[in-house]
Amino acid sequence: MVAIAPSILSADFSRLGEQVREVEDAGAEFLHLDIMDGHFVPNITMGPQVVKDLRSKSRMVFDAHLMVNEPGDFLKAFAEAGADYITVHVETTPHLHGVLHNIKQLGCRCGVALNPGTSVTALDSILGDIDMVLVMSVNPGFGGQVFIESSLAKIRSIRRMLDTAGRSSVLIQVDGGVNTETAPRIVQAGAGVLVAGSAVFNAQYSPGSMVRMLKECAVES
Ligand code: DX5
Ligand code: ZN
Repeated sequence: MVAIAPSILSADFSRLGEQVREVEDAGAEFLHLDIMDGHFVPNITMGPQVVKDLRSKSRMVFDAHLMVNEPGDFLKAFAEAGADYITVHVETTPHLHGVLHNIKQLGCRCGVALNPGTSVTALDSILGDIDMVLVMSVNPGFGGQVFIESSLAKIRSIRRMLDTAGRSSVLIQVDGGVNTETAPRIVQAGAGVLVAGSAVFNAQYSPGSMVRMLKECAVES
């Protein structure tokens, strides 16, 4: 089954609770929380307080995507705020294995994110330690960018790596430029979780309608 993960980066923050409820009611399984520090990426978003406040209003899987330097310093705060998954970028820490284990010790599932310019070989030594791989299909920092087509080949090679290693249950999540046109191709390449920000919150139709449309077009073929 393919899961939809609306990214609140593109939501109207003055109506955040209402918009989160709408995408949940429409059947979104994950809520994607983009945490940016203004250093690893040139943008600043939210901290654990926003995650904590939303936690009491939603039963969705809370998926914190940390785009921060030294992510190890922030794990406890996001775990305590209610994150179910915490994903860190391989580019942000020389202590990736330790960070992943800390995430698990805090009771969360762990994900690793790869920037578009990072090779899949970065996963070689940690395939046995992860619950999810996040393939960035745009350069991180902003919503509304165009899907980088070479991400499809990357998704296919990660799918092969996981299957070969007997780790087929590890989720492949794709983030950036996901919309009703790219979603079917991304699913066909082997992804199981689709993050969508602008396609859900800045679209012609309501966020709820967009979640339903994405779910329909993201059925595994
Ligand atoms: C970008 C973020 C994404 C962003 C995607 O750095 O990680 O989650 O919200 O936005 P769209 O879906 O508009 O490309
Ligand atoms: Zn993200």
